Amino acid sequence: MADVPVARRKADTLYFQLAGEIAHAIATGVLQAGEKLPSIRKLSSQRQVSLSTVMEAYRELEDCALIEVRPQSGFYVRHKPSVLFVPELTQPPQSPSDVVIDPMYLPATLARLHDIKVDFGFAILAPALFPNQQLQRLLAQVTRQDPDLIADYGRPTGDVELRRQIARRSLNWGGQFEADEILITQGAIEALNLCLRAVTQPGDVVVIESPSYFGLLQILESFQLKALEIPTHPQTGISIEALEFATRNGEVRACVLLPNFSNPLGSLMPDENKKRLVELLAERHIPLIEDDLYGEFYYKGERPRPAKAFDKEGNVMLISSFTKTVAPGFRIGWVVAGKYHQKIEQLKFINTFSNAMPLQRTIARFLESGGYDHHLRRLRRACHEQVGHAVAAIERSFPADTRLHVPQGGYVFWVELNAVVDTLLLLRQALKEGISFTPGPLFSPSHSYGHCLRICCNAAWSDLHEQAIVRLGELIRQQMASTTTH
Ligand SMILES: Cc1ncc(COP(=O)(O)O)c(C=O)c1O
Repeated sequence: MADVPVARRKADTLYFQLAGEIAHAIATGVLQAGEKLPSIRKLSSQRQVSLSTVMEAYRELEDCALIEVRPQSGFYVRHKPSVLFVPELTQPPQSPSDVVIDPMYLPATLARLHDIKVDFGFAILAPALFPNQQLQRLLAQVTRQDPDLIADYGRPTGDVELRRQIARRSLNWGGQFEADEILITQGAIEALNLCLRAVTQPGDVVVIESPSYFGLLQILESFQLKALEIPTHPQTGISIEALEFATRNGEVRACVLLPNFSNPLGSLMPDENKKRLVELLAERHIPLIEDDLYGEFYYKGERPRPAKAFDKEGNVMLISSFTKTVAPGFRIGWVVAGKYHQKIEQLKFINTFSNAMPLQRTIARFLESGGYDHHLRRLRRACHEQVGHAVAAIERSFPADTRLHVPQGGYVFWVELNAVVDTLLLLRQALKEGISFTPGPLFSPSHSYGHCLRICCNAAWSDLHEQAIVRLGELIRQQMASTTTH
């Protein structure tokens, strides 16, 4: 039998996962400096794990200097100054600009051109995190029960069984729409394309968050749309005041936002802001395209509501997808387009006509079976742990003036470095050592954020990840030292 790499074995252990959860709780402030941790016996019974698992987890956290043992007393979160200052509201240019994206720095290009050993770039979770075998069985079952599905061209709106399941699930956050209001797409990316095409013409101005997902920027570029970047806070999302000001003169044709766990900031817009946002845009007749791809990735509490929950006029086009949650390879997304539904249906007909019926039906059965909820719980836990490890590693290894917002969901986060650091240069250096991430300028049409980067925690944490963060910290320090000596 081939040797399993040591790094993989450690990441898979229960104690390491438990340590990751506690590290994240410390990084997010859920556990505060000086706070006492549960005793080994108590945690072992709370978590239904062995005493030695808890002891190992606490030892790991001690090694990382996150907790300390006080004789005769127990384990405590260490008192140490956090390096994790939260970045401030972004300050993008105030006028619209053309969009030109350099494909050289896209994660897909980097993966093609370089031998990447540790990937913090791709926002696609590792295959081991998906229910592949369950889906394989369901796919065989649905095509056995109904072989004609293979010969079925489908309809532009998509499989009604899947749409019914999506409608049913949206009740969880107060969504009240019927299967007929939903249209299935080839991932969220097709939905974004269709929505933008439905409401804009080349040359129009579209409001976006700053920074914004580069895939969206590429669509704007291909449709020759201008982007108006709005100041965005890493915790609460786009500034409603700035949006109000930017949309006052009727120039803006559409608005594309990710209120829940945005990519790349990881921000989560409070409900009251979502409500104001929806009311403001409805008043000004500006359609809102809401990308809710990461809404299911919350770590705690309830699923955050999409802005669509506040939409009374049908002005919000809500987009989501099963590509991040269930099956990247099935390429199934969806949109509830409100008053733009008919237009989107026509465009879907022209664009790709329909999605593969057997794949849609398989997802429908997966949702129906309850397997989806069970899987999501596991996925959220895994993402939470991965992010916790990455944040804790950055806290240990990056310079003290690093700013970082720890998200409450999702698996990407934004890191702001000292202003002298050039993350494009950092990336070129890191790639030579097999480490990849996504540099800040890729997320902005004005190519701002040269000192920022996005970290994507797409796989189980390992020693290799840990070493890669340490190495990035060293490269950052070297750049800072060389700029002060010049
Ligand atoms: C914010 C955002 N929107 C849309 C997409 C595209 O999603 P899909 O793979 O479902 O087409 C991505 C993919 O990374 C994304 O991060």
